[in-house]
Amino acid sequence: MLIPPVENHWGNLSPLPKAGFWGRTQELWDIECAFVQDGTRRLTISGFGGQGKTFLAVEAGRWLYRTGLFETVCFVDYAQFQGVEIHATDLAVSTLATVLDKSLVNVQAATVRWLFWIIWRL
Ligand SMILES: Nc1ncnc2c1ncn2[C@@H]1O[C@H](COP(=O)(O)OP(=O)(O)OP(=O)(O)O)[C@@H](O)[C@H]1O
Ligand SMILES: [Mg+2]
Repeated sequence: MLIPPVENHWGNLSPLPKAGFWGRTQELWDIECAFVQDGTRRLTISGFGGQGKTFLAVEAGRWLYRTGLFETVCFVDYAQFQGVEIHATDLAVSTLATVLDKSLVNVQAATVRWLFWIIWRL
């Protein structure tokens, strides 16, 4: 499944679809524990085709952002990856760079709004 990148201030994960995310509480809990308690920095989700691996990974990203564990979350999509024109690591780095660059621009925009508000108050 292709999840199109969506620009927002905290990363590029797609917003939760209207049908919502259901179940997988144990898996979400396990993922959070791995990151928080065990200091895990890399985690593999495996399962049958269409079982919900991508959906779970994206929801885990949204959840770990909401808990405050991460300030930015980034989805690197290898669904259509052929490895012909770009190396796997390069794709990850360039996606990260795009997301981080956009979040920096948004922080600057927010700061400008905030500064204007201060000036107006004076
Ligand atoms: N927890 C969930 N809540 C709601 N819908 C879900 C959930 N898990 C999966 N789905 C639905 O099932 C579809 C397939 O899930 P997903 O794309 O995550 O599977 P996958 O394991 O990554 O498949 P593939 O092996 O083909 O990459 C999703 O598009 C979504 O509509
Ligand atoms: Mg998938």
